[in-house]
Amino acid sequence: MINVDYDEDRPWVEKYRPTSFAEIVSQNLAIYNLKNFVARKSMPHMIFTGPAGTGKTSTALIVAKAIIKDELYHRNVLELNASDTVRMSYVRNVIKSFVAQKMILDDNGLKIIILDEADNIPNQVQQALRRIIEKYSENVKFILLCNYINKIIDPIISRCAVFRFINLSKEKVIERLKYIVEKERLQIPKNVEENFYETLFFISGGDLRKAINTLQMAVALDLIENLNLNELLRISGFLDKTTMTNLIETVNKRNFESARLLIEELEKIDSRNLIRQINVNLDKFNIQEASYSQILSNFGDIDYKISQGADEKLQLIALLAIIMQNSN
Ligand SMILES: Nc1ncnc2c1ncn2[C@@H]1O[C@H](COP(=O)(O)OP(=O)(O)O)[C@@H](O)[C@H]1O
Ligand SMILES: [Mg+2]
Repeated sequence: MINVDYDEDRPWVEKYRPTSFAEIVSQNLAIYNLKNFVARKSMPHMIFTGPAGTGKTSTALIVAKAIIKDELYHRNVLELNASDTVRMSYVRNVIKSFVAQKMILDDNGLKIIILDEADNIPNQVQQALRRIIEKYSENVKFILLCNYINKIIDPIISRCAVFRFINLSKEKVIERLKYIVEKERLQIPKNVEENFYETLFFISGGDLRKAINTLQMAVALDLIENLNLNELLRISGFLDKTTMTNLIETVNKRNFESARLLIEELEKIDSRNLIRQINVNLDKFNIQEASYSQILSNFGDIDYKISQGADEKLQLIALLAIIMQNSN
């Protein structure tokens, strides 16, 4: 008999997406409260907010599946991703026709609209959305998902129960990765095992989706058997250990020109990645004790400036200059 694994090509983030509350890790407070709503088969409008890869979408799907019966799910649950469909007309048409559709009444008579990446919706469209939320509140419940709740307009927030999703700890991320490794029967060489998981966690920055994707990519590229962590770092857009050490030494020698050249030469590096990498290696720089906390606080500022469109390499070079100025 031929044993075909139909799951082979499925992204692991989908294959291992939690399907029950019990599988959602770290979000105890949110899950505790959500279970209560689900037990009563009723729910308010809700906002799930928090960093990427912390379980917001998975949890929204679990809630919807628990409240709307299987056979009605496709008719009575609408999943929309706002990142690519933010136009006013789209929200109007799709959502309005969905809410206006005759309901096949379930015992609770509810429809649910899951609006992913709701913080991408322009304010004006949010205003239109708000009117829909008000008008159909009785039968239609919204679950809005976002990274930044401050991008959601107040009149919507005030109509929703807000659930905050927190970053997963290193232990939780590694635990979930180990679970997948076991299920996929991967052989991680024992001597690098710990380092491997540490590196995956570092690359993920606490985003479990990224961690799982990186693991699957490492497998797809045959990086596991002769595990090469430097290669893993490089293909994920970080400096390998040697280059990082070089950079640290150059900065410690206070050789600004060489440091600048080193940065200029990096072609495909993502500056925000590198800034994070410098951050976690900060103890290897010869920074004066008195300046340490001030430099630490610089990282957040720089990340913010880059997110607002500042030139990435300039910010990076400025950061190195500040470190040098405050080094022994
Ligand atoms: N809290 C969590 N518990 C278990 N798995 C998680 C959790 N957060 C994320 N994941 C994993 O990461 C993937 C992405 O999760 P997702 O729910 O889409 O996150 P978000 O919507 O917050 O970006 C899921 O497939 C799941 O495997
Ligand atoms: Mg999501």
